[in-house]
This record gives sequence, C-alpha cells and structure tokens, in this order.
Amino acid sequence: MDYIFNNNHRGDALEVFNVKKISYAYKNGKKAVDEVSFSVKNGESLTIIGANGSGKSTLLYLLDGLLAPESGDIEIFGRNIKGNFPPELRQRVALLFQNPQAQLFLLSVWDELCFGPLQLGLEKSEIQKRTEELLELLDIKHLKDRGPWDLSGGEMRKAAFGACLSVNPDVLLLDEPTTGLDPRSQVEFVDLINELRHAGKTIVTATHDLGIIEDISDRTVVIGEDHRLLTEGNTWDVMEDTDMLLRANLIHRHVHRHRWYVHEHSHFGTHGHEHVVLREPPAITNPPLPPFAKGAHRGINEEVVFKMTEPDKLKKLLEHWAEHNEEHAKTYLEWAEKASASGDKELSSVLKEIAENTKKMDGLFEKAKKALGKD
Ligand SMILES: Nc1ncnc2c1ncn2[C@@H]1O[C@H](COP(=O)(O)OP(=O)(O)O)[C@@H](O)[C@H]1O
Ligand SMILES: [Mg+2]
Repeated sequence: MDYIFNNNHRGDALEVFNVKKISYAYKNGKKAVDEVSFSVKNGESLTIIGANGSGKSTLLYLLDGLLAPESGDIEIFGRNIKGNFPPELRQRVALLFQNPQAQLFLLSVWDELCFGPLQLGLEKSEIQKRTEELLELLDIKHLKDRGPWDLSGGEMRKAAFGACLSVNPDVLLLDEPTTGLDPRSQVEFVDLINELRHAGKTIVTATHDLGIIEDISDRTVVIGEDHRLLTEGNTWDVMEDTDMLLRANLIHRHVHRHRWYVHEHSHFGTHGHEHVVLREPPAITNPPLPPFAKGAHRGINEEVVFKMTEPDKLKKLLEHWAEHNEEHAKTYLEWAEKASASGDKELSSVLKEIAENTKKMDGLFEKAKKALGKD
C-alpha cells in the first residue's frame, strides 16, 4: 500500500482546482450549475453539499473534464482545461461515480482493479501485488471473482473505489461515496479517507450525508437549490449555520428547533435508563450528539409506558434519575463547554449552574426512592 499512502506531493501548484463562475445546462435546457466559483488547495479535503438536484454530480463531472462548462473557467494544477483535459493530468484525477454501475464494465472485481494499472503499463507482478493489497484494504477479498453486476450497491461502490485507487491518483473526486455502505463500512470509509488525507491526497466529496462531512473535510462548499453557490467556509462553521442549511434544504425545521436539545428525558420511564430519542433523527451532528443519542440507550416503548400505573411510572423515573444523575451532570457540563466554545456565554453559564445543582441532588434521589419503596 506504500504507493498510495506515501506522501506523494509533487511540488504542485498550491491550488488543484480553481473554478471561476462556471455554468452548465444539460441539452434539454435543464440548468445544473449556475456561476459557481470555488477553489481546492493541494492536499485539501473539500466537501460539496447541496440538496438533491442542486448540481453536485454535474460539478464533479466538470472538475473531471467529462463535461465542459458553457461559461466560466476551470483551472486544474494551474492549467485552464477549457473542455480539454490534458492527457498527462488524466491519471492524476479519479472520479468515483454516484452510480458505480457506470464505472464497472469488466468480468470480475479482480479485473476491474487490474485495469487501471495495466493501462499504466505496470509490471505484472506489481499489478498483482497492488490488486491484492487493495482487496485487503477495502475488505472485498471475497468478491474478487464476482462479476460487478451481481454485487450489492455497497459492494459495487467499494469495487469502484478500488478501481479509482488502483492508479494512485493525486486527486479523488467522490460522488456520494457512503451511499449503500453498511454502518461498519461507513466508519471504515471515513478512516480510509483520513489516511488518504494524511498521505497528501486532494479529495473532493459530493454528498448530502451531513453526518460525515466534519469527519472527512476541512472545508465545505454549499450549493443551493437554484444551482448557485450558497456559501463556503470551514466545515465546522458551515454546519453551525442552521439558517443557511435550512435554506439549502439540507436540514429540516424540527432539528433546527432542537439544536441544543437533541434528546428529551422520558417522563414515563419504563426499562431502566432510557431516553426518548427524537423520532426524526437529527441530520446534523454539530454540536456532536451526546453519547446516549447515538443509540447507547434504547428508545422508549410508549405503548408499554402508558399501561403502567402512575406510582410505577414515578418509581421507574426516580430510579432512572438516581442512576444517571452523575452522568446527566457530566453531560450538562460538556454542553456548557460546547456552548462556551461557540461563544454563547449565557447558555454556557446556565448549563454550568444546572450541572452543579444536578450533582447536589444525589442524596435527594436516594431519599425519594426510599420513600417510594415503603408504599
Ligand atoms: N443527464 C441529464 N440530463 C438532463 N438533466 C440532468 C441530467 N443529469 C442531471 N440533470 C439535472 O441537472 C440538475 C443537477 O443534477 P445533479 O448534478 O445530478 O445534482 P445532484 O448531484 O446535486 O443531485 C438536476 O436538476 C437534474 O435533474
Ligand atoms: Mg448527485
């Protein structure tokens, strides 16, 4: 894997892409990109986010030279491509298609991974080594003899990603790379992207999966539903701007209202120590969800709760409060720090006060439990 993970900056221009006011409409007249400008620095990981149909895939096709802008300019490594992607730069940029079927065309996954290196004229033994390493890296050894057509969506995406990596490109353009991946594969994908970042690759990822963008990118470009650039900035700041994310149709109001309170405590506790997780899981993870909202606690089965008698409910609830009081105090404190870090001093101070008072309640809960136990 050294060939991929060794830092292989080649002393290139500081900017890999410089996109200036590019527009594109499909033949049917459908506008897909409207006067969009942004740049991508060498070694940077940038995400492009936007609602469905905002033009993310089209932008990646334009960066990859598959489409030429109607107006505006695209420079790659300082060279204006004007619809003619310089052949010597071709192998340095790889595009992972949103639909991996568009990318895979050979008889087996093994062949797909060998194809690029064969085109590069590498030695047979080197190709074999690379292919075996890639199968291992992507955890798809068991698929090597399978035809791409009978793979699942996630398996196909991994094979297509392998095909991209096989030529060791400097720049990766990834279109919705986590679609179809199971949760473990998604985590592995995030780790892999970070290793690739560390190795100096330039990565541009188009996605509407807001859950990953802080983990994989330094900077984010937001495309509005009108196909125009809505904003760009460091990913953390972009994710904080909920009004803008709403306008881009990337989050919905329910999450917005509950930004700081992504969970509620159950007032009808049933089994031990559950929290009510919002029925619509928040699409944003910034500020990061407290651990219990990530599934460490089970959701509440309200039907069972409503069948319980009032004293039973209260008893359960008190047990829950007593058992988790310390944990709750810690959570309030964590959120106080987050509020303080994002500049909301007032909220931070209230949360600190809540945390301190929460700690003081340990004894009272014990007392209440004892009082209830006597009934
Ligand atoms: N081949 C095509 N022919 C005509 N219109 C297209 C084609 N591909 C995409 N579009 C339209 O262009 C717009 C942008 O599409 P796309 O770049 O795929 O957006 P995204 O990737 O953000 O979902 C959409 O309105 C879409 O319907
Ligand atoms: Mg798309």
